[in-house]
Amino acid sequence: AAPTALPRDLEGRRVVISAGGTREALDPVRYLGNRSSGKQGYALARVAAQRGADVTLVAGHTADLADPAGVRVVRIGSAVELRDAMHAESPSADAVVMAAAVADFRPLGLSPSKIKKGDREPAPIRLAVNPDILVELVKARPSGQIVVGFAAETGDETGDVLHHGRAKLARKGVDLLVVNAVGDGLAFEMEDNAGWLLSAEGDERPIPHGSKARLAATLWDAVVPLLGT
Ligand code: CTP
Ligand code: CA
Repeated sequence: AAPTALPRDLEGRRVVISAGGTREALDPVRYLGNRSSGKQGYALARVAAQRGADVTLVAGHTADLADPAGVRVVRIGSAVELRDAMHAESPSADAVVMAAAVADFRPLGLSPSKIKKGDREPAPIRLAVNPDILVELVKARPSGQIVVGFAAETGDETGDVLHHGRAKLARKGVDLLVVNAVGDGLAFEMEDNAGWLLSAEGDERPIPHGSKARLAATLWDAVVPLLGT
């Protein structure tokens, strides 16, 4: 097929994107982690660069992904490192996208030496709550900056995926929230996503099943009209 020309509608814009999962250390060799592959965040970075943006990708743990062409990559491990990197990178950004899977909790009191098995009952792992980076970024944002969040949701007895997505959009205070329906082999470690794109203005667009590059294009299409001149 003939290559489709991408719009250069992010020319002159700076975007900061987080991707991948955080790892929360228990001791020098162990961590609590998650199954994020980083593919969606990398696709967002690649497509933004192709559309002319100056892109910084703040990357946690990912599947073995190559750095997207023309993108500056900053590596982080834990949620606290991710927070520091996002606060350092985001003030001069036109748009900030939190696609990273941030651990909600971290082990309290990192052991400086390797935890030994011993001969007693294992000690419970006590957890501390990590900062909500997205909420902090919304609070700290310069005027005109667009902030985007991601949410992976399942329906439950209190409501469906869209219900949980709407609540999260309001709670986080973001301009746009991408809501992915998860469960039963959806989203995690998969090539495709499906869900909803919700805006603070109340727009609710279904996102059809498609590639992560396709979702990236859909998201930037929604961000561009929100950017100031
Ligand atoms: N996020 C963040 N900092 C955290 C947790 C999440 O910045 N400590 C961001 C994620 O990168 C994502 C959005 O917030 O863009 C939603 O993440 P999610 O885990 O769905 O929201 P939570 O507020 O953690 O709610 P819960 O896990 O209870 O559904
Ligand atoms: Ca969470």
